[in-house]
Amino acid sequence: MELGAGLLSVFSVLILGALRAGVAQELQSPPNRIAIVGAGIGGSSAAYFLRQKFGKDVQIDVFEKGEVGGRLATLEIGGAEYEAGGSILHPLNLHMKTFVKELGLSVRMRSDGLGGIYNGEEFVFQESSWFIINFVKMLWYYGLNSLRMYTWVEDMLDKFARIYSYQNLDYSFSTVERLLHSLGGDDFTTRLNTSIEETMLNSGFSVKYINDIVYPAMGVDFGQGLKINGFVGTLTLAGTHSGLWSVEGGNKRVCSGLIRASDSKLISGAVTSVEEKSLPKHIGSGEHLYELSYETSAGPQADLYDIVVMATPLNKPVSNIRFLGFHPPIEIMSKVYHQTVATYVHGKINGSFFGCPQPCQLELSDIITNNPKLFFSSIGAVSPVKATTESEASQPTGLKVWKVFSPEPLTKDQLKLLFESYEAVNERKWLAYPEYSPPEKMPPVILHDRIYYVNSIELAASAMEMSAISAKNVALLAHHRWYGKDGQIDQQNLEERLKSEL
Ligand SMILES: Cc1cc2nc3c(=O)[nH]c(=O)nc-3n(C[C@H](O)[C@H](O)[C@H](O)COP(=O)(O)OP(=O)(O)OC[C@H]3O[C@@H](n4cnc5c(N)ncnc54)[C@H](O)[C@@H]3O)c2cc1C
Ligand SMILES: *[C@@H]1O[C@H](CO)[C@@H](O)[C@H](O)[C@H]1NC(C)=O
Ligand SMILES: *[C@@H]1O[C@H](CO)[C@@H](O)[C@H](O)[C@H]1NC(C)=O
Repeated sequence: MELGAGLLSVFSVLILGALRAGVAQELQSPPNRIAIVGAGIGGSSAAYFLRQKFGKDVQIDVFEKGEVGGRLATLEIGGAEYEAGGSILHPLNLHMKTFVKELGLSVRMRSDGLGGIYNGEEFVFQESSWFIINFVKMLWYYGLNSLRMYTWVEDMLDKFARIYSYQNLDYSFSTVERLLHSLGGDDFTTRLNTSIEETMLNSGFSVKYINDIVYPAMGVDFGQGLKINGFVGTLTLAGTHSGLWSVEGGNKRVCSGLIRASDSKLISGAVTSVEEKSLPKHIGSGEHLYELSYETSAGPQADLYDIVVMATPLNKPVSNIRFLGFHPPIEIMSKVYHQTVATYVHGKINGSFFGCPQPCQLELSDIITNNPKLFFSSIGAVSPVKATTESEASQPTGLKVWKVFSPEPLTKDQLKLLFESYEAVNERKWLAYPEYSPPEKMPPVILHDRIYYVNSIELAASAMEMSAISAKNVALLAHHRWYGKDGQIDQQNLEERLKSEL
């Protein structure tokens, strides 16, 4: 009797569950059209993941006002192409690795040159080619801080890598804070609101170590010193690890590859506004649609979409998109994007500028500075995006291509200080990253019912892999919200739950 009742209720739950799922599926057919604004790594990977989730019938349009790749681009100097924007990937950047594999591209390992940290007068730290000497030197100067930093960063990366299993199991998050909290708990979210300096001091690192080693590492990547938040700061320190790589032929090839693989339509045009349109009884979609207006070479146009994915920073100078007719209005916090100038010089570095006695044999190929009064933050020898043949590689002695990062364009006089002589100069100015000024609130991921914002994650950290992770999160979130699968959204304590389910 009891057994029978138990079975009965199990059955009724199963049947009801199946019915409910069936009803939900029937009520909600797939969306007809999805728009993605931006064809950088965020937009192109969103196209790829949205196609995976929503199937082959939905039309996916990708709008791009500039070049496919966005902040991934190459630049020509001395007869070869070099990464001009985002260049370095970490071995744990698993979405990027998967893309490269699935698209049939190949990985190019970064050759590790010798690095030094220059304070404007002398080198406070200089790597030597013999690893053990480096290590002993670091220990000598900074005690156990260096060793600890390595494990400290590793620990965060381990927790961060949980995102891949959560995303494989279809879990998504409605805010950046919830996503990060699910990975590393309060420790992660607190880092968003604390500077890297405070974060490391709280973890017991010495002031000297932070100033000598951590500060210049932040300088290269973000030009904002120790004020950046502790989350992006720790990720940046992972850039000092080995096994760093980039994509053969240029990182931007991933973007064009993903757009092709996702079978979406690339539209060359600048989106100018998004407006909510109510269409009663529009077949196969919700009660309202979004109208995107955009400028193409053929003039202004407009189209209607069920779902809109914003894959560009929405700050005024960057994207210039207006949201019309929303109540309450969609407000984008106007965040300053930090200018970084990358100058490529084919020439011979001026050793005496760095205090190297004549005749100078400066062996370093990466110099970062920890003196904010200097006019540049780093200078490093770079390799082309394609492997060179032996004959191409045999350059006249001392001539290399150097990349100089600076907050302002370099003047002729500054170039003459840094280089003994040079043959060519090429420069690219970027609005590179948000100005990180913790504490701050992350922008929303859900801007409106079915408008999503991939780049909200940039306020936690800006990197290629972050955009790809956010793109997958948005694709999952858009899917689960469309089909009402609330159980796949914002689940906390996933780590424990997944362990007990195994
Ligand atoms: C100099 C530099 C060095 C970097 N180094 C690294 C690194 O070593 N490793 C790393 O992981 N990351 C690095 N980054 C960061 C990385 O490049 C970015 O985080 C990433 O490329 C951002 O991609 P995204 O697709 O989110 O944005 P974006 O690449 O900016 O893409 C947005 C796209 O949207 C388009 N768009 C904007 N508005 C509109 C509109 N109204 N209509 C249509 N299209 C529009 C833009 O033209 C752009 O193509 C670096 C960045 C810079 C600038
Ligand atoms: C090289 O650096 C020294 C020292 O800063 C400077 O005096 C000189 O003008 C620089 N330029 C060249 C071409 O040597
Ligand atoms: C961080 O600080 C901002 C602004 O003070 C606040 O709105 C936000 O809730 C804080 N976030 C966390 C995770 O503490």
